[in-house]
Amino acid sequence: MTLLIINIKELLQIRESHTLKVSGIEMKTLPSIKNAFLYVENDVIIAFGSMDTCHNIKADKTIDAKDKYVLPTWCDSHTHIVYSGNREQEFVDRINGLSYEDIARRGGGILNSAKTLQNTSKDELYKQSIKRIKEVIYLGTGALEIKSGYGLNVETELKMLRVIRRIKENFPISIKSTFLGAHAIPLEYKNDKQGYIDLIINKMLPKISNEKLANYIDVFCEKGYFSLDDTEQILIAGKQFGLIPKIHVNQFNSFGGVALGVKHEALSVDHLEELSEDDIETLKDSVTMPVALPSCSYFLSIPYTPARRLIDAGLPIALASDYNPGSTPSGNMNFVVSTACIKMKMTPEEAINAATINGAYAMGIADNYGSITIGKKANLIITKAIPSYQYLPYAFGTNLIDSVIINGQLIND
Ligand code: NIG
Ligand code: FE
Repeated sequence: MTLLIINIKELLQIRESHTLKVSGIEMKTLPSIKNAFLYVENDVIIAFGSMDTCHNIKADKTIDAKDKYVLPTWCDSHTHIVYSGNREQEFVDRINGLSYEDIARRGGGILNSAKTLQNTSKDELYKQSIKRIKEVIYLGTGALEIKSGYGLNVETELKMLRVIRRIKENFPISIKSTFLGAHAIPLEYKNDKQGYIDLIINKMLPKISNEKLANYIDVFCEKGYFSLDDTEQILIAGKQFGLIPKIHVNQFNSFGGVALGVKHEALSVDHLEELSEDDIETLKDSVTMPVALPSCSYFLSIPYTPARRLIDAGLPIALASDYNPGSTPSGNMNFVVSTACIKMKMTPEEAINAATINGAYAMGIADNYGSITIGKKANLIITKAIPSYQYLPYAFGTNLIDSVIINGQLIND
């Protein structure tokens, strides 16, 4: 199967294969070709260039993208998209004055979702989750990291991870799975946190490793959840089972989670709404990608990750959705990109870089996804006819996607 896209108004995010992330000032540039074509064989990008050079290419299917932009699909490197039920009552409680932390202290929050998920069959969990998966694919997401963390016991964490595996088997997008047993302390362990950490290390991890259910290990490193010491124990154990760290840090407090992530060569440190100068210094010369989740800041009315400080310090940044029932009931990466521009003062070029190539880096797939590169997967967004690519984040809330191509196949056919 071959596919040729012609007359593309502008083909965005063209990179050489050695570019796996962009940092600092480089983020301001979004390399592109105007009046371009793109040629795909099966699921791989084979050629692209200016229309002047598009001679004698024959394809099984040709798409005329006149007045339209083509860019790589979004790489959403942080989601909790596998969950059961919703938490709109907590949303109303927050409108009426409670904070996210107040709700968690009352036994709501993550524990609320865990209780629901424990009582949901694996088929029902799959059914609820794939509705959201289909939705985000139509919204232009072509790669997704998915975390466990609403199981909080051996059997239910495994149930979540097996559902993620089933999604992987049944959907064409790239999916990476992350074990987040340390998302909250379950009620049974309220007075024995170490007992729960031991359960994660001695019971959950060996089983997960045995079934090869996870690529990454995550911990909610936060006051009231898991301390630096707790987090380190879990990261070390995870690494022994071959899981690379990717952790929740600095959502509400900055107390050394970033340095811990960097020390353990975390692929990413995510949230960073609270960020000290020391945190920024620590990230320099590290392999760790800082990840911002602006829809979470929007929904919880908490500070936004200071993207300007990170970028101006020469660092990279990735953008992800954090899709989950408590802090971000949305997986719309177009909204994420807009909100990053509007609230975090990222330029459209920076935001698109952050949601494509840097997102791919933050989930370990930048060698195959995140840019228009010969040899990479043909995961593409074709926009509607729009005046400029800056119009994408500008016209927030409007769906400007005409079609999505995953592995060379048109999705909305
Ligand atoms: O990334 N902060 C920790 N975990 C999620 C929220 C989970 C929930 O509230 O259900 C987050 O925001
Ligand atoms: Fe999260």
